[in-house]
Amino acid sequence: MPHIIIDKITPLSFPVKGENCEFLFKAENLIAVQTQNAKFLIQTRKHKNGYLVKYDKITRPLISEIKKAYIDFAKLNNAKILFENISGIKEKLPNKNLINITDDLSNIDIVEVGFGSGRHLIHLAKKYPDKTILGIEIHKPSIEQVLRRIEHEKLTNIKIINHDARLILSKIPSNKLHSIYVHFPVPWDKKEHRRVINSDFINEAKRALQKNGFLHLRTDSENYFEYSLKKFLEFNKIDIEVKKNIPYEITSKYEERWIKQGKNIYDIYMKSLEISPEIKETFDFSFEKRLVNLDFTPKVYNNFVIHLEKEFKIDDAKSLIRATIGNFNRPEHIYIVNCEKPYYFKLPAPIKDNYLAHIELKRLFNGQISNSK
Ligand SMILES: C[S@@+](CC[C@H](N)C(=O)[O-])C[C@H]1O[C@@H](n2cnc3c(N)ncnc32)[C@H](O)[C@@H]1O
Repeated sequence: MPHIIIDKITPLSFPVKGENCEFLFKAENLIAVQTQNAKFLIQTRKHKNGYLVKYDKITRPLISEIKKAYIDFAKLNNAKILFENISGIKEKLPNKNLINITDDLSNIDIVEVGFGSGRHLIHLAKKYPDKTILGIEIHKPSIEQVLRRIEHEKLTNIKIINHDARLILSKIPSNKLHSIYVHFPVPWDKKEHRRVINSDFINEAKRALQKNGFLHLRTDSENYFEYSLKKFLEFNKIDIEVKKNIPYEITSKYEERWIKQGKNIYDIYMKSLEISPEIKETFDFSFEKRLVNLDFTPKVYNNFVIHLEKEFKIDDAKSLIRATIGNFNRPEHIYIVNCEKPYYFKLPAPIKDNYLAHIELKRLFNGQISNSK
């Protein structure tokens, strides 16, 4: 981990400006840093003959920003740098095809969920050169590999996001998508709640699809096929087409394996037959008043969790709370500055489950209602 060791720490009064950074406040061993491009925390800890300074993983910015903070911090403390391992670290340049959950998704036309080795994703990009394809994948090595292929093939119409697909569709405008592909999703026979196909996902997919747009599920699991068919049939104004053992335009790595084993392959095409209402969700993550009666036991709800983990004192009137909030399967680690009018040190991603957790968090710790749901 990129860090430095300095020989001393002198008492600083915050906020204090360095050459390239402003140090906003200190909460026990955490120090808040603002640079022109980023806002993050660094940590200090006593270390043999000096003090170790490292970055905080939750708010981690680019290495270039961390370097600025370390250097300014050492200077402000009039400290000598006894050790550093940052000058040799080369920044991995952000890849223009890799986007973030906070980016605008209103120009996406086609979505592929869990693209794995990316064969079908690349095929889609070539088949539809005028459409923008979004690939959503949780497995980082697959993403790295596919990004390299996109660059090699000079494809300009693919965007990739490293996130849980179940949370992303809610960010796509209504009636926008031409198609959504879910090919060979993990069947999760013993953990149904982890399946990509569920009622919420289908609901969001149907809303985001154009009228006559379709979702294509292809699976080798009879169990998953039957489960999904039942889930699709919970919905109205849809057309369902089912196929069995029909070759598809491209064979994925997984499919090759299943075909060799003589397994059956099932397809479900769910077409949306209606125009869905527009969504106008702007998530307001503000707080009105100080959070009180803090309770550090995890709270688990149907779709989300709230877990206040630790409180760090800033001064008599302020503290920094580290917490986990949001979707049960993909919660977010965040910090809240708790004061007269609290605020998130960095805003949570603007998605529904984070917002629901935020509303509940305010309700729980407003000092009026008991902490039980
Ligand atoms: C069995 S593989 C199939 C890959 C590819 N579609 C194919 O047909 O070869 C399932 C893929 O889905 C990804 N995945 C599983 N759950 C996911 C989720 N919730 N969101 C996005 N990707 C997911 C996995 O990382 C894995 O790469």
